[in-house]
Amino acid sequence: MKKILITRKLIKESEDKAVKTFTPIFNTNDELYSQKKVIEMSNGCDGILSSLTDKMDKQTIDKLPDTIKIISNFAVGFGNIDLEAAKSRGIAVTNTPEVLSDATAEIGILLILGACRRAAEGIQSAQEGGWKWSADYLIGKQLTGTRLGVLGMGRIGQKIAKIARSMIIHYHNRSKLSEEKEQGAVYHKDIKSLFSVSDVLSICCPATKETENMINKETVEYFPKGAVITNVARGDIVDDEALIDALNRRKIYAVGLDVYKNEPNLNPGYSKIKSAFILPHLGSATKDTRIAMANLAIDNIDEFFKTGNCKNKVN
Ligand code: GLV
Repeated sequence: MKKILITRKLIKESEDKAVKTFTPIFNTNDELYSQKKVIEMSNGCDGILSSLTDKMDKQTIDKLPDTIKIISNFAVGFGNIDLEAAKSRGIAVTNTPEVLSDATAEIGILLILGACRRAAEGIQSAQEGGWKWSADYLIGKQLTGTRLGVLGMGRIGQKIAKIARSMIIHYHNRSKLSEEKEQGAVYHKDIKSLFSVSDVLSICCPATKETENMINKETVEYFPKGAVITNVARGDIVDDEALIDALNRRKIYAVGLDVYKNEPNLNPGYSKIKSAFILPHLGSATKDTRIAMANLAIDNIDEFFKTGNCKNKVN
């Protein structure tokens, strides 16, 4: 049986599956391995089942033993892995698409609701007690009939659009979707056009060189005054300083964020903003979804060693 390093603890059902599929090296304490430790631990292994907390950059990949043939990432996003470095060492990289779309879209909706309806301030007041109801107490933004811009209309973006049907949906995507997939959503060829009609934006696109810092000093100005920006994708898409500045100027009314640059150390500017509704990367955090993701990451390894390829290979 192939020997596989599993860098983070999985839910029991998935660890049981791993035992049946290959010889796993488990991380029983769920310690966050350093890059050096991943290299050491992968000695004698055929593959690595990594998670988004493992930074598999070129330096790390170049030092992996020659026996490593696959890095199966326990996530749909794979910005933590240098795909080219892996490719040049003949290492396949796989991800876990689809199985987490529902759970992540739910958090995407929570971000929209939480940011627009001032949930962070509401929770704080309720916990402190002594709040006084009045006609204008914690007035938020009503969503029905307002415009939702979806940046990246892939599986998660489409689910968010579907749940948010009482809003008017606009989107930007690398390519226009078929009418069946659009479900009446209005396509925008460029982000300037999308942002200018987004009362609320939901960021759902992958982090790539093209999308890095797509929300920046210049592009925040494209939004209507008082827009809300939410991000369920990756922190790298947002230039935090520019967004925090726009919040402080009230150009942007509120943010709903689940992902950050340099997680878990988010820019301290966000904690000072009352209207920031912030979560600790909970997108896929339901038991069923985490099991489905880990099982798919295991199946990807199995398929790869059985067939020499894998349908979820991304490099
Ligand atoms: C979660 O953020 C994932 O990419 O799976």
